Amino acid sequence: MASTTDRAVGIDIGGTGIKGGIVDLEKGELVSDRVKVATPEGAKPDDVLAAVEQVLGTLEVSDAGIPLGVAFPAIVKNGHTLSAANVSDEWLDFAAEDFFEQGLGRRIHFANDADVAGVAEVRYGAAKDAEGLVILTTLGTGIGSALIYRGELVPNSELGHLQRAQHGKDAEAYAAYSAMERDDLSWEQWAERLQWYYSHVEFLFSPDLFVVGGGVSKHADKFLHLLELRTPIVPAVHRNNAGIIGAAALSRGAAPAHLAATTAKV
Ligand code: BGC
Repeated sequence: MASTTDRAVGIDIGGTGIKGGIVDLEKGELVSDRVKVATPEGAKPDDVLAAVEQVLGTLEVSDAGIPLGVAFPAIVKNGHTLSAANVSDEWLDFAAEDFFEQGLGRRIHFANDADVAGVAEVRYGAAKDAEGLVILTTLGTGIGSALIYRGELVPNSELGHLQRAQHGKDAEAYAAYSAMERDDLSWEQWAERLQWYYSHVEFLFSPDLFVVGGGVSKHADKFLHLLELRTPIVPAVHRNNAGIIGAAALSRGAAPAHLAATTAKV
């Protein structure tokens, strides 16, 4: 086990659950239980803050003695949340980083959930030695995306909000894992929607590797082989823990300097 100075806490706030854990930054692995509470109904700031406090309390890391990274499912720019797809509108143009820092009484590193998952997979996972352009997507309540070119994160890509002309809605409303549950689709039926989505993203970006994260990535063997793409597509090594691990990794400059620098700006 790593010494305590090699550890940080990662909190991954999602549309459905708020997950947290203590991470060994050397190995990029959880060294605590993975603690999860449901995202409060409506996901308003005060309620989300209380849920984050609950996760930190369960992990017994409520004091500021260990670095803390928090990931959030929205555009995060200069500490402000600029979108609110699966959370309360109160997060629109909201000084969220300050809000969490004041509420928790400690400094945090604050970034988009898919971006931090991408950082985790580049640093410790499926995209570790990947060349060229890696696109990580998380398939959950929404679709999150991280664009990483030669190890450099281009933050806030928001590829879940590509428009699907056929029904005039965001891609995530059609192809996220929540759409599969909502419409009661079989793996094969959902894979047809994913085929449209990944073909479209492939056409737009010609990536070198797709990495698929989110909770459903643990069932990757049920649907990834059904997709026909030129680009290799693999599950995230850290599955649904990539957000926790990436948030922790960015919390104290543990990421490679170029990753820490780019995400520090978001
Ligand atoms: C949000 C993204 C987020 C993704 C996954 C989308 O609805 O706009 O910021 O990364 O969901 O949580």
